[in-house]
This record gives sequence, C-alpha cells and structure tokens, in this order.
Amino acid sequence: MNVYDSARMADVLAPLGYAVVDDAAAADMVILNTCHIREKAAEKVYSDLGRVRQLKAAKEKRGGRMIVAVAGCVAQAEGAEILARAPFVDMVFGPQTYHRLPEMVARAHRAGEKVLDTEFPAEPKFDFLPGEASHARAAGAGAAYLTVQEGCDKFCTFCVVPYTRGAEYSRPVAGVVAEAGRLAALGAREITLLGQNVNNYHGEGPGGVEWGLGRLIAELAAIAGLERIRYTTSYPADMDDGLIAAHRDVAKLMPFLHLPVQSGSDRILKAMNRRHTAGDYRRLAARLRDARPDIALSSDFIVGFPGETEADFAETLALVDAIGFAQAYSFKYSPRPGTPAAAIGEQVPDAVKGERLARLQEKLNAQQRAFNHGAVGRVMDVLLERPGRDPGQLVGRSPFMQAVHTEAPASALGSLVPLRITAAHANSLAGVAAADARTALADVRASA
Ligand code: 5AD
Ligand code: SF4
Repeated sequence: MNVYDSARMADVLAPLGYAVVDDAAAADMVILNTCHIREKAAEKVYSDLGRVRQLKAAKEKRGGRMIVAVAGCVAQAEGAEILARAPFVDMVFGPQTYHRLPEMVARAHRAGEKVLDTEFPAEPKFDFLPGEASHARAAGAGAAYLTVQEGCDKFCTFCVVPYTRGAEYSRPVAGVVAEAGRLAALGAREITLLGQNVNNYHGEGPGGVEWGLGRLIAELAAIAGLERIRYTTSYPADMDDGLIAAHRDVAKLMPFLHLPVQSGSDRILKAMNRRHTAGDYRRLAARLRDARPDIALSSDFIVGFPGETEADFAETLALVDAIGFAQAYSFKYSPRPGTPAAAIGEQVPDAVKGERLARLQEKLNAQQRAFNHGAVGRVMDVLLERPGRDPGQLVGRSPFMQAVHTEAPASALGSLVPLRITAAHANSLAGVAAADARTALADVRASA
C-alpha cells in the first residue's frame, strides 16, 4: 500500500511541477514513506533520515533548497516527535492526509513553516486525488496497485494498523472502476486490489447498494485489456461465499491468495484477538481449493507472541504441514507501542523467538521449494514486469506469484507471455518462450 500511496503522492505533486527522480542528492523534495508494522521498519526511518540530512546540508551549501518530509505510518504514530528528534525535517504527515500535499508544500516552501498533519480527515482522500495521469509508472510495467479499502477495525492485539491507518473505509464502486479503467488504458494488464482488510470490502455500488469484493472483482473483470486481478491482504473470517465463488467463476482472478493465519494455536489466536481457529482456517482452505483446485496459498506468521509455549508453536508447525503453503512471510513478534500485546507480562525471550522462527522458516521454505519444483516443465503465462539483473533478462510473475526470469528484449516489458518453466529455485523460476499462447493456457488448465 505504501507503493500505491507513494505513486499517488507523485500524482498530487505533478501539477506543482514536481517529477520523480532517481537520485535524492539533487532532489528539491525528499519524502520518506514509512512503515510502523514492526520495530525494525520503524527504526530504519531514523537511519535513512541521517543520510537525507547530509544530502540536504550539501544542497544548502550549494545554495539550493530541499524539503524533507516523513509520510506514512511512522509519521502518523510519532508525529511531532519526529520534528523534535530530526529538526531538519520540514513536513510530517500521515497516510490519510497526503491529498493535502499542495497546501503543505506551499506552507513549508513559501512560509518556511514546519508542517504537521496527522489528522484522520472526515473527507476521504480518494475524493481529492487527481484522476488523470494516474500512476503511469506502475501501469507502464504492466502491473499496478489500486487501493479499494483502507484501515482496520479488527484490533489484533499485536498490530498498530488500526491506530495508524484508522477505521475501515471502502471506496465507492464507481471511483474504483474508473481508476481501474484508467490504469488499463495506461497499459496495466494486472491490477492488485489493496486494503488492510481488502476482503471485507463493502463499497457503495450503483443505486446505493453495497457491493462485496467478489462482485467488485466480477465487474472489474469486464474491463478490456485487463487480464489479471489479485487482491491483498485478506482476513480469514471475512472470506465470504461471494468471494470464494469468484475464485471459481472469474477466470481473470489469479489462483493465488495471501491469507494470513498468524498462528496455528487456538489459544494464541484468541489472545491475538483473531476471529478464527486453526480448524476454521483449514476448512476455509478446503473450500477455496474446492472452488479453485490449483489455488496457491500464502500466509503470514508471528512466532513468539507473548505466552506462546512450545506446544502452541508445535500447533503452528502442524497447521503448516496440513495446509501446504506456496510461500509465506514469518516474523518474530515485535512489541508495538500502544498495542495490548506489548503490555502482556509473559514476553518470549528473543533467543526462543529466533529458534522458533528458524524452524518455521525451514518448513515454509521446503514447501515453497516443492511448490516451485512442481512448476518445472509446465507452460505458464508470465507478466514481464521489470528488468532482470543480467542484461537481456526480464523478470515477471506467474499466475501463482512466482518470480520468473527469462531472456527477453526490453520491449517485452509489460506484456503477458507464455513461458515454459525450465528450472526452479528457492525464490524464483526460470523460463523460456513457449510456442503458442493457446497451448500454454490449455496446459495450465489441464494440469490444474
Ligand atoms: N510483530 C510481528 N509481526 C507483526 N505483524 C503485524 N504486527 C506485528 C508485530 N507486532 C505481521 C503480521 C501481519 C504482517 C503484515 O505483519 O503477520 O500479517
Ligand atoms: Fe492488523 Fe490485519 Fe489484524 Fe487489522 S486484521 S489489526 S491490519 S493484523
């Protein structure tokens, strides 16, 4: 979502004459768009600010100016503290106010004021973001993000999101469909619908009727030129029948779902205030696989949540064995200021967290390797998204989100091509051009 937000900030600033550059040293403005989800992410902000401070000083020495801004969830959570700790920062604003950037820049630039805006405004920012040249850079690569839902009312006890991103909000259908149409017209072949709780989307549709995510996806699938739809991140208890049915009925909806479970222990899930049990998650996975037999599942895990015992952790390992994930993210529990779990007495020692994380990752990595090896010999449609490390190489995504490396000219960037998978590695695949697109699709369907 920060990638999407950053692109929208660039859109908002474009009419003021700002354009994105690759080198911060010469920039007139540097915006750090920050993440507060775990301590490590939040700490990075201050080390990055140290570097930006030197760039600003050097530029001022040359007689230039540089506006330094901290945006995103660290800005939301720390607010004025950032201005106190890093006085060379000019602007601090949260994720819900960046549509006001022109006004903030005017204050910082012309009046030399310090700007702090961490409100949760009544007006949704989406109503004030420009519609025209919308995130052309992202669309140019064939894959684009589109925020449809924001914020969270779930209050998992470990998580800062409800405090930094605010209450749940779903964008009305019309604005989403219009933005998706523009992205497709700009060359996006794939759109990933974003939201902290995206599967709880309930936007206002035509005639004031509420639409769920399944219905929205079916509507977006009718957009010409758009070939692939994804969505992330989902909350297990909010997977409704309509959305599960969309995985069966909408061919453009990709067979990959990121569905964070966090833990396999019902006791810990309860302490986390998650509204699902390990059994619920297993049943949900089974229903998804009934709807779309080849669907690949991905997840998030937290190890060492306060009070987690070896027996609790064993249940997480058992759940991983039972489900079989195509890929996953796993983290040591990180106490976040102001969250209920941070105040629990029984914190798990870091060494124990580290040891459990290693065991969990060993299992998850083995599952990912097995999943990737299963792709060898198959033909898959790959959306070529970015240049690879070696010249003449491009990297794309399979329907199952696997990174695929292939030899292709730069002109193929942004196109969807059938590739025969020739090799599998821990985190990626290699492929070569397959002869015929129709055989390719038939092949994928046959093996599904
Ligand atoms: N500590 C560790 N991991 C966390 N996550 C969220 N909050 C914390 C925390 N305090 C993880 C969850 C979530 C992902 C985005 O980040 O697994 O799904
Ligand atoms: Fe955080 Fe997701 Fe829980 Fe919301 S549902 S509180 S975003 S982990």
